[in-house]
Amino acid sequence: MSSDYEALLNATIEQLQSLKRTGVQFIRIEADTLQTLAKPIPRKVTPMVTAREHQGEVVAAAPVAAFEMSREPLSAEEKEAAMTELRCRAMQCQKCPSLASTRKNVVFGTGNIHTELMFVGEAPGADEDAAGEPFVGKAGQLLTKIIQVMGYNREKVYIANILKCRPDTPGQLSGNRKPTADEMKTCLPYLLAQIQIIKPKAIVALGGTAVEGLFGKTAGIMKLRGNWQSFQNIPVMPTYHPAYLLRNQSISEKRKVWEDMLQVLEKLNQPISDKQRNYFLKAG
Ligand code: URA
Repeated sequence: MSSDYEALLNATIEQLQSLKRTGVQFIRIEADTLQTLAKPIPRKVTPMVTAREHQGEVVAAAPVAAFEMSREPLSAEEKEAAMTELRCRAMQCQKCPSLASTRKNVVFGTGNIHTELMFVGEAPGADEDAAGEPFVGKAGQLLTKIIQVMGYNREKVYIANILKCRPDTPGQLSGNRKPTADEMKTCLPYLLAQIQIIKPKAIVALGGTAVEGLFGKTAGIMKLRGNWQSFQNIPVMPTYHPAYLLRNQSISEKRKVWEDMLQVLEKLNQPISDKQRNYFLKAG
């Protein structure tokens, strides 16, 4: 892709995201523009990797850009270009036909790709599918609060999911379901590429499915939470999913998640105030 095209695309994505944040749900668009947007993007051909090892398993064959095979750190511009290209590819993905035909949006990821901290969730729900942005529903609002109390905001970290499309629920008007093992395996190369581009200093895995997506079947979130794991040499802190905290309002469960976040702040050498240290302690 040319850098002009990239700059334009990034500016358009930012503009649309900022409109969405202010509550805009629909925009007028000329039929010609829509047709142009639907055309394939002019870009350089990237090498195909037929199969890759992931935690001892072979991940489904996926086209990956050259950056994925390079161990060299990427410049800020290379990161932007690689992420834009990856986003474009994900937006057109048809690998899971039923998810592609039922989704309203591909929910690629949001935030700062130069961040030191990344959050990984499970899959978009109905709100995220409608908005095209991860963690914007009730669980997302709680996550946003946690991120703010940590001293960051959504624009300073990066948030993504194991699955980029909402798991379909045929015959049901509402409700969510856990992604299948096949769906996770199929979609995982996008998340792997996001992690390799961002190279965060820490990842927070939100809930059992995020942990399963990254590490395969493990001891489970109840046992793993609070204990550092490693994914491609990046420290990963498994913690409860915010939706769990919405279902289980006990202060002691909130405190556990908060202790996990304190560990993350320590790992990132972030200053921690007394107020931050003591959240949820009184009633715990
Ligand atoms: N739950 C998730 O795991 N991800 C989202 O984006 C929203 C809810």
